[in-house]
Amino acid sequence: MGEVTYQGLTFEPYIRREEIAKQVHRLAKEIMRDYQGKNPLFLCVLNGSFIFASDLFRACNLPDAEITFIRFKSYEGMASTGNVKEIMGLSEDITGRHVLIVEDIIDSGVTAVQLRKELDKHNPASVKMVSLLFKPESLTVGEPPEYVGFEIPSKFILGYGLDLDGLARNLPEIYVLKDA
Ligand code: IMP
Ligand code: MG
Repeated sequence: MGEVTYQGLTFEPYIRREEIAKQVHRLAKEIMRDYQGKNPLFLCVLNGSFIFASDLFRACNLPDAEITFIRFKSYEGMASTGNVKEIMGLSEDITGRHVLIVEDIIDSGVTAVQLRKELDKHNPASVKMVSLLFKPESLTVGEPPEYVGFEIPSKFILGYGLDLDGLARNLPEIYVLKDA
């Protein structure tokens, strides 16, 4: 794993494939323990979460688990716009369902707060969130996710689903912006 360059910026290796897999399996164990005997609905927040959600969903051996998708967008380049757009809404009836939101990363918390508000309107049985990454120092609104893979400092990262203006999602490992 060497350095990679996108839009003239250099990124260095940060979290390796094996470490990601280890945390995905640890999260799956916790989720299986908490949702045993339930019929949870995993809600993958596109675009960033699709790789994590596909690994996590397969690692969760819950016979009655289902998955669906919603799309939100708040980031332009390397900063949150603070303005979250819902681009593709809920297609499933979540009334009375145990919903598990699957996020790639919680940064300011703005997306998470807006999403929870939206879901609460439909009277789900419960709503929890699992996020692969969490930047606690950046959180300005809402609560930390119930399940967290990695707590990281407030630096820009990419790979494993996370992007810079649409690029780098296909990197199998996570990279961090190199200090100038
Ligand atoms: P929040 O609303 O500020 O919590 O931002 C959440 C969304 O911003 C995530 O779902 C990501 O799509 C994006 N995001 C936040 N931090 C990063 C990062 O370091 N790299 C790439 N995308 C990020
Ligand atoms: Mg993004």
